[in-house]
This record gives sequence, C-alpha cells and structure tokens, in this order.
Amino acid sequence: MTKVNPNAPTEEKVLAVEHYTDRLFRFDITRPASFRFRSGEFIMIGLPKTEDQKRPIMRAYSVASPAWDEKLEFYSIKVPDGPLTSRLQKIKEGDTVLLGRKPVGTLVLDALLPGKRLYMFSTGTGIAPFASIIRDPETYERYDEVILTHTCRQKAELSYGLRLVESLKDDPLVGEMIGDKLLHVTSLTREEYPLKGRITTLIETGQLFENAGTPKLNPAEDRVMICGSKDMIDDTAALVETFGLTEGSNSKPAEFVVEKSFVG
Ligand code: A2P
Repeated sequence: MTKVNPNAPTEEKVLAVEHYTDRLFRFDITRPASFRFRSGEFIMIGLPKTEDQKRPIMRAYSVASPAWDEKLEFYSIKVPDGPLTSRLQKIKEGDTVLLGRKPVGTLVLDALLPGKRLYMFSTGTGIAPFASIIRDPETYERYDEVILTHTCRQKAELSYGLRLVESLKDDPLVGEMIGDKLLHVTSLTREEYPLKGRITTLIETGQLFENAGTPKLNPAEDRVMICGSKDMIDDTAALVETFGLTEGSNSKPAEFVVEKSFVG
C-alpha cells in the first residue's frame, strides 16, 4: 500500500503565463478548493522533480491574487542559473506546477493595528503580496487611504503593477470600493522618470508625502507594510522606526510589518 503524505504539495495546472521583461513574468495556476490563505501570505511553489533530482525544488512565493479569486497568481523574477526559476520561466499553459499546502506570512492586515492610512512600500517583485492586498475588499473596509509605492530600476519593470492598478478601475468586485482610495506611486532609480529615487530617499526628503498629498508618517494614523530585497527591507524598516512606528506580527499587531521576497 502506498502512503499518501498529507503535507505533500498538490499538482496544479498552469492557466496562463505573461512575460513583462527578460527578467520578469507572471503565471496563473488552478487553485484547489481546499486551499485557503489570507491576502499577503506566501506559499511554497515548485516543479515536478526531474530524473536527476531526489526531491522537487520548492521556493517561497507570495500569492499575488486576492483570497477571493478562484485561481492563484504569482509574479516572479527569472534568474538564469536559478535552481527553480531557470526552469519555471519556461512553463506554458497546461504544464504542472507544485503548490505547497501551508500559506504563511506577516504581510497581512491582521498583523497591523487599526489605522487611517495603509502604506505598502515595494521594490521589484516585492510588489507581489501587495497585488493581492490591493484587490482585497477588506483593505478598503479597514483604511480610508491606501498608498502602494513601487520602485524599480527601469520603466519596463513597473509594467505589471501599472497594468494591474489600471485594471482595477473596471474590476466588478473591488472597482467601486476602491474608488479614489488607492494611490499608486511609482519611482525609478536608473532611468529618467517623473519621480526618481529609492523609497528610502523619497521618505527622507519628504517627496513621497508631497507626491501623495499626505502628512509625514505618524504612529497614530499610519500603518506600513514593506516588501523587497533584504537590504531594502532593513533600511526601510529602520527609517519607518524613526517616525515612531513599531513592528507587529500575527500574535502582536502593531504599526508596521515586513517581509522579503527571496526567490532564486
Ligand atoms: P538602486 O537602483 O539605487 O539600487 P533590486 O533589483 O536590486 O532589488 O532593486 C530594486 C529597486 O530597489 C531599485 O530601484 C533599487 O535602487 C532599490 N533598492 C535597492 N536596495 C535598496 C535599499 N537598501 N533601500 C531602498 N531601495 C533599494
């Protein structure tokens, strides 16, 4: 008799793949009826093992689709020699992707105390969990203003976020709720663009707040989520702390939370 491992990943089908640049792509897969998660959480993703592999390579990916969606969406970097993404970037509709069973993460609304404004600071593929959160109706029930910032090196890297936010205007489920509550602030660091600079610089100089029409960060009103590379997270978290915000978690909600996108 073969034993079925209840923790083994499930096999899901690829529904769609879209490439944005030679380094960035998105893919959608089927969602098992039993798969529950909170917007902003991540899950292990992999590909069926090849003949020379003992076990499949799995990596943590933030779910980019909202919790109500019947499919699961992911936004990924392509690393030429990456153990997983070198193969994952070649997937096509109909292929099989492995999906872990236990979503986890701290970038969730429940890890923050109630507030007036929600800032989501992202760089690169760090926008993925926020792609989920900005499509969750609960976000707009909890906050009067929702500000998503996305900083990349070059313009093409902003495409995924720009298209997503544009598409939300006509979204039948959240379009009306969002109204003018959602502000998407984009900046670039290595190409000419109306707003130039790292998110840390934009916070320090106050350009972010000028641009968003909001007061400087304050712990009484503002809540912050941060997602990007490890250095970006560390630097942005340290800066946010200088405004008096403290870090929260699932068990002890507070004023800001962090996560890193660590896909190789
Ligand atoms: P920069 O071009 O000045 O390095 P990456 O692809 O390296 O993760 O970078 C994505 C974006 O994050 C880039 O715009 C990059 O700016 C910015 N960035 C990198 N490191 C940091 C950091 N420590 N703090 C804030 N932003 C950062």
